[in-house]
Amino acid sequence: MTISLKTEGDIQLSGTFRVPGDKSISHRAVMLGAIADGKTKVHGLLTGDDCLNTIDCFRKLGVQISQEGEYVEIDGTGFDGLKEPHEILDVGNSGTTIRLMLGILAGAPFHTCLIGDDSITNRPMDRVARPLRQMGAKIDGRENGSFAPISIRGGGLEGIDYASPVASAQVKSAILLAGLQAEGTTTVIEPQTSRDHTERMLTAFGCQVEVDGLKTTIKGKQDLKGTTIQVPGDISSAAFFLIAGAIVPNSELKIKNVGINPTRTGILEVLEEMGADILIEETDSNNFEPVADITIKTSVLKGIEIGGDIIPRLIDEIPIIALAATQAKGRTVIKDAAELKVKETNRIDTVVDELSKMGAKIEATEDGMIIHGGTELLPAVVNSHGDHRIGMMLAIASCIAKGETVIENSEAISISYPNFFQHLKELKS
Ligand code: S3P
Repeated sequence: MTISLKTEGDIQLSGTFRVPGDKSISHRAVMLGAIADGKTKVHGLLTGDDCLNTIDCFRKLGVQISQEGEYVEIDGTGFDGLKEPHEILDVGNSGTTIRLMLGILAGAPFHTCLIGDDSITNRPMDRVARPLRQMGAKIDGRENGSFAPISIRGGGLEGIDYASPVASAQVKSAILLAGLQAEGTTTVIEPQTSRDHTERMLTAFGCQVEVDGLKTTIKGKQDLKGTTIQVPGDISSAAFFLIAGAIVPNSELKIKNVGINPTRTGILEVLEEMGADILIEETDSNNFEPVADITIKTSVLKGIEIGGDIIPRLIDEIPIIALAATQAKGRTVIKDAAELKVKETNRIDTVVDELSKMGAKIEATEDGMIIHGGTELLPAVVNSHGDHRIGMMLAIASCIAKGETVIENSEAISISYPNFFQHLKELKS
């Protein structure tokens, strides 16, 4: 699908709204609900394509799931109740689905085959396959078992101590989900802190997880008990409108009910350091995930350096931070972010190529990018390359590029924000 976005004269963005449910938390709510004993009720689930694929995969494993919009009920089968699927499981575009499913299936004593779209087929699976094989799972796939299509025969797992070479919540979560089914104890040590939604949610499902700095430990053979999960708004989706509110002249946006888990709030720290006018009001500290209302007003931004431990805490927000940097005073350097190359697209290349088409002064580096701020963006024909976050970044860029911007492959946006264009339209005046 191709969408044309016209910006005529001076526009501003204003309004109060909610973004859809958090993608990472939605996946985990369905997955943990499926492997728990008893019923799990999920409120505020993201109904984007990725999470619908997670639901579909568990239905194929014999789990009863009823879904009415953002409300989902799962009749958990426990690990033991999962059934060998008669069909191949298709995860679509979802890295979280395929990698966390491998962790769950590592303990399932049957054969499962997983596939996805072109992007998934080119993303590394060895980062989860290697530790899961060490635990005892049999995993094979394309290119010596490193890429999907990938097949797994699980069962008979032993706990491991694993030092992960990458700070990845998908890797950590896959190992913890396998560790739950293993004999003995499993420990994952990360080079930097990655998002901790699995650990928090396992606790909500009655499991014990021990976190000591970068080390996470789980005892095997624990059962999960079905529960009720309230999914907060996705800070990664909110990020597009936070930056829109900061860079579109005379704007003021209030986004309610945004998840502000500290392992995800690198974007808020970056906005503050760039000089954004932002107010964070925490609203629900009783939830297992903290939540806030966030207000942002247009302001003059300044270029900064972003690197080190903050990178895993804002990795998905780098495309939209790059756009903010084109409007900031001075230079922004993003480094230590080579992981961008193995996301839905190579996000160093897609960000640099697509923003360059709009006149941005931006260069790719080995592990990030350098953006020279203060440029006027011009409308262009641009392409999401099937990457939802690139598509949304370009749509926000169109708000400051006077004229007609055409975004090819804009349908990708429904992966994480199905009503993105409706919100954009409603907030413009
Ligand atoms: C996710 C973890 C991150 C993130 C992805 C969602 C998750 O990936 O980029 O969008 O839900 O665990 P990595 O674990 O590969 O860093």
